[in-house]
Amino acid sequence: MKKVIIFIITILGMVGVTYMGIEYQNSKKESDKEEKSNIYKQGKVAIIYFSATGTTKTIAEYIKNTTNGELIEIIPKEKYTSEDLDYGNNESRANREQNNRSSRPEIENKFDLSSYDIIYLGYPIWWGDVPKIILTFLDTYDLSGKTVIPFCTSHSSGISGSLSTLKNYNKNINWVDGKRFGDSSQSEIDDWIKGLND
Ligand SMILES: Cc1cc2nc3c(=O)[nH]c(=O)nc-3n(C[C@H](O)[C@H](O)[C@H](O)COP(=O)(O)O)c2cc1C
Repeated sequence: MKKVIIFIITILGMVGVTYMGIEYQNSKKESDKEEKSNIYKQGKVAIIYFSATGTTKTIAEYIKNTTNGELIEIIPKEKYTSEDLDYGNNESRANREQNNRSSRPEIENKFDLSSYDIIYLGYPIWWGDVPKIILTFLDTYDLSGKTVIPFCTSHSSGISGSLSTLKNYNKNINWVDGKRFGDSSQSEIDDWIKGLND
């Protein structure tokens, strides 16, 4: 009987030590996470986007839902018609703009960005790159010192070509490597933003 009691006490002791170990590991993981500064929790947010056919706009709205930031659309002075966006035609407006290094399509609206610390910048991928109107935007507004997080939508191309264009275009911005989305859901956007670290 005595042996049985000792055995039970030993087992209970081992279970207890294991449990305390797991608890310690879990709380350590949590505090490690806290130590990294999460962009999600910092500063005043604006979500600025250009969207010719609404796909990027949907993602921008999801980002607004997650961050509670200000949603701002870059509206072209001359709207893009479906002929303008026909990228199977070499002479379509979008293709001519993308092939012209100095093309800077005009923006119709103006915004005051001085109070924002974090800007999500959204666009569709055009020929693997940013649409030229995004460069017009960067020429017009001084975002030096701000944190800018690009996001894009595309049929299949990734974000990397457009990221290198942006990083080279303005080196005074704190660019955060962004993400390409397709038909993405609100929860995918939530996860992405909550995992963003400086
Ligand atoms: C001129 C033009 C060029 C495009 N080039 C690409 C491309 O290189 N790779 C790609 O995957 N999709 C490309 N697309 C498709 C768009 O990136 C895709 O449809 C995007 O989600 C549209 O976003 P929006 O609805 O916000 O305008 C192109 C579309 C246009 C109009």
